[in-house]
Amino acid sequence: MRSIAIKELLAKQPLGDTVEVNGWVKTFRSNRFIALNDGSTIQNIQCVVDFEKFDESILKKITTGAALKIKGQLVESQGKGQSVEIQTEDIFVHGTADPDTYPIQPKKHSLEFLREKAHLRVRTNTFSAIMRVRSVLSFAVHSYFQQNGFYYMHPPIITGSDAEGAGEMFRVTTLDSKNPPMNEDGEVDFGEDFFGKEANLTVSGQLEAETYAMGLGKVYTFGPTFRAENSNTSRHLAEFWMIEPEMAFYDLDANMDLAEDFIKFTIRYVLDHCQEDLVFLEKRLLDEEKSKPQHERSEMTLIEKLKFVVDNNFKRVTYTEAIDILRNSKPNKKKKFQFLINEWGADLQSEHERFLVEKHFKCPVILFDYPADIKAFYMRLNEDGKTVRAMDVLFPGIGEIAGGSQREERLEVLQQKIKALDIEEEELWWYLDLRRFGTAVHSGFGLGFERLVQFATGMGNIRDVIPYPRTPQNAEF
Ligand code: 4AD
Ligand code: MG
Repeated sequence: MRSIAIKELLAKQPLGDTVEVNGWVKTFRSNRFIALNDGSTIQNIQCVVDFEKFDESILKKITTGAALKIKGQLVESQGKGQSVEIQTEDIFVHGTADPDTYPIQPKKHSLEFLREKAHLRVRTNTFSAIMRVRSVLSFAVHSYFQQNGFYYMHPPIITGSDAEGAGEMFRVTTLDSKNPPMNEDGEVDFGEDFFGKEANLTVSGQLEAETYAMGLGKVYTFGPTFRAENSNTSRHLAEFWMIEPEMAFYDLDANMDLAEDFIKFTIRYVLDHCQEDLVFLEKRLLDEEKSKPQHERSEMTLIEKLKFVVDNNFKRVTYTEAIDILRNSKPNKKKKFQFLINEWGADLQSEHERFLVEKHFKCPVILFDYPADIKAFYMRLNEDGKTVRAMDVLFPGIGEIAGGSQREERLEVLQQKIKALDIEEEELWWYLDLRRFGTAVHSGFGLGFERLVQFATGMGNIRDVIPYPRTPQNAEF
């Protein structure tokens, strides 16, 4: 007999049939009711056990966390809380879980505790719901781009170019750390290393994606990226997944339109496909917020927030307008911001971004036309000579969820910029070639996938939306 996934069983409800399910015990009440879950859905199947029919030695093994195979007839449930249940005829114990040592007991565990048990936390309702949403969201990302004429491109993970993120990269080397080869200047000789030069894990696939957009037209990447920044925040990981669309012949306006349409599509997709998990996560969030002071609680529930994003236009505001708003804002005047905004040119911190989104506009915001000095070298210079065609998408509770720009397509302007920043032109020879051969207006952006998952699930800490978070001082598992 073939086993059936609990999700499928509950959808079909073949009353009267003998069925077989596998899963892990959530609870075993009164030596009679097993709540079994197999991860296919947040719902458990109730298996009713007639304890007189089973040996005590088997019943003893049915504890929270044990893996079982259960066979029996599917019948209408006599009790409340479920429409169907299995009248257990056969129990096979795949594996027991000693209640004295199994850490995931049927009670509330803190998210911090569960982070230390990251190999088992997916057996909780919260984490299984998050990880199902994460999976559906990934599919939504691919669906969106595949439906809209984009090609999926795999940029290299090991890269010899450190032009974008100098200083915050993880080195990849096979040199002997105790006894590395040295050159005449007394420095490590990376010429002897595996790649014959210094190599790092990529911080972004953008520059390579640009080369592909200038041949395939519209591409996107979706892969892991690595940053060795020492930021211990609820929004930073050292290893995170980024989605980077890059489009030939798109200007910044088209880029902003795409970012908004794409994000809305993925959220709508989750609303349409993850109803049960969202209802659970919404309730979790409400419970969590009960312990917070009133003014810190959100005005909308999780599902309301998701619908709000889907149904409303993102507000588009220039950096210059934003600075005016911030300079005249209450928290700035009352010196409540940690970083006060005094003048044009200041870099925006997450406290400012969140003020704009959560307090001022009360909707997602796209800020654009930033000062050139606080943005990357490849962004297209505006006619004013001091701002660039950059954009950041800011979300409630998250801050920056995506950032991108129209790229500088003019060879001389780009060369000047590279020179001014003391970047070696030779390192970027291939990137500059794009401006030598068939250059054109093009644009793209990067969206942090975990930040999107955070938004969709209402989770406050980015460590809880990726299976095994990598953060400073932490690479367990
Ligand atoms: O703003 P960032 O650094 O932009 C780039 O890397 C560009 N090359 C993107 C492009 O134009 N193709 O990163 C893009 C997004 C951020 O908006 C944020 O959502 C996410 O990546 N991100 C992080 N997510 C988790 N942990 C970190 N340490 C992150 N750093 C950036
Ligand atoms: Mg950014």
